[in-house]
Amino acid sequence: MGKSRGSYYLALKQIAKTANSDSSLRKICNSIAKSAAKAIGANGCRILLLNPQRDHLITLGAYGLSDLYLRKGPLDARKSLPKVLEGKVIVIPDASKDEQVQHPQVAESQRVCSIVGVPILKQGEVIGEIRAYTHEPHQFSEADKNFLITTANTTAILLERAELRLLLGKNYQASGKQAKLAQLPRLTTASLRPVEFAHPSEEEFAKLLDFYCIEWLYEPRSFPLRWAGNEIAEMFTPDFYLPELDLYVELTTLKQSLITEKNRKVRQLKELYPEINIKLLNKNDFFKLLAKYDYGPLGEAKVEGVNRILYSRSQIQRRVRTLARRISHDYTGQRLVMVGILKGVVCFMTDLMQHISLPISIDFMAISYYGGEGDGEVIKITKDLDSSITGKHVLMVEDIVDTGMTLNYALAHLLAHNPATLHVCTLLDKRARRLINVPLDYIGFEVPDEFVVGYGLDYKGEYRNLPFIAILKPELITD
Ligand code: IMP
Ligand code: MG
Repeated sequence: MGKSRGSYYLALKQIAKTANSDSSLRKICNSIAKSAAKAIGANGCRILLLNPQRDHLITLGAYGLSDLYLRKGPLDARKSLPKVLEGKVIVIPDASKDEQVQHPQVAESQRVCSIVGVPILKQGEVIGEIRAYTHEPHQFSEADKNFLITTANTTAILLERAELRLLLGKNYQASGKQAKLAQLPRLTTASLRPVEFAHPSEEEFAKLLDFYCIEWLYEPRSFPLRWAGNEIAEMFTPDFYLPELDLYVELTTLKQSLITEKNRKVRQLKELYPEINIKLLNKNDFFKLLAKYDYGPLGEAKVEGVNRILYSRSQIQRRVRTLARRISHDYTGQRLVMVGILKGVVCFMTDLMQHISLPISIDFMAISYYGGEGDGEVIKITKDLDSSITGKHVLMVEDIVDTGMTLNYALAHLLAHNPATLHVCTLLDKRARRLINVPLDYIGFEVPDEFVVGYGLDYKGEYRNLPFIAILKPELITD
């Protein structure tokens, strides 16, 4: 879509003018998104701001994206185009097929095909990003990317100004025209929520969903329930939609009068739209729902030590299937020996092997650390392989690679038996703590430098049975 310099120039002129106006931050950002989309021939654009904890992205302004797409709730910064937050310009040719996209199904249904993301840098630090979207497969030119980078720079200045005004805060409230400035949205997640909840219980529910890593959309769709002639006489908007479970949820309180009314609406909706899954939920039902949808038999007691869930069971399952497909493809026509290190690897190993479409055999090793004489620990193999691996294709399977010491030791041990080939598949890669550079061929997820438990991983022997991977509360770690 060859754009002339003229269209970039005109768009920049418009952007600079808008940025310098005294409209609200949201309006300015909406307008910038529109100018930017048009300049590069994209169908939509949005401006995202990183929250202070740097783990979520919040939409500041958008153009050309449907409500449904915008109501996805905050984007998880680690899962949604993470490389942009490292300061890189990223192009996704097809969002429905890409692992860097947090909601591929939603992207597809919204006709979001190609995406370009550029970081918004403030004095070298990434504070947000601009993304542009097209309905059809599209190649963004270097000029398009440069244009977005310039737009991002303008936006950075704009955001800094908004923060300054916030700092000055009350001073601006003084009089007349200035009063407007004090109404700038605060640049914190709490007040920049992408969603205005109608009821505190909804916000509480959203927090629970966030904790369990369950994607949600707030009031994404209204269903006509009754017509008077051609006019819609009654509509019903369920509170939430959970894409992963394909389920609408209407929350209830304990007020009997309301329950009866909601029951009627839900019943009517089911009759009129039999293909729609909807549930009326109160808080206690939530835990039953979790159990039913494979989040495990979680009494609240069981997640007591958990700070936050990193990867839900379904996210893990999806990732494990992808890894298994790659491995099956790479070893086509060969037999594979999968070697796991006990005990952390049990969940991963059993799930992974069931999705591998090759003849395989499995074996396990166990390794222990002993406090050695003087400085440092001694590593010892406490259980060796049952069968010979000489001349075989061996895949070492690990739960997590942290410093790399364990894996390095195990690989040296396996190599000494002369396998035909030796590769490594690890579910988790805690790269930040690496001391020994071990080659990793297949990686499930890169995890932050925090202690994680669940899905086989333990802390002092516990938590292995959690069906998800979670960050342990740091105050529980005693040594
Ligand atoms: P490394 O030798 O430092 O790479 O550590 C690898 C082993 O330490 C893994 O196989 C785990 O058993 C354990 N480990 C490292 N980090 C974690 C964690 O965050 N949670 C649970 N176990 C861990
Ligand atoms: Mg281990």
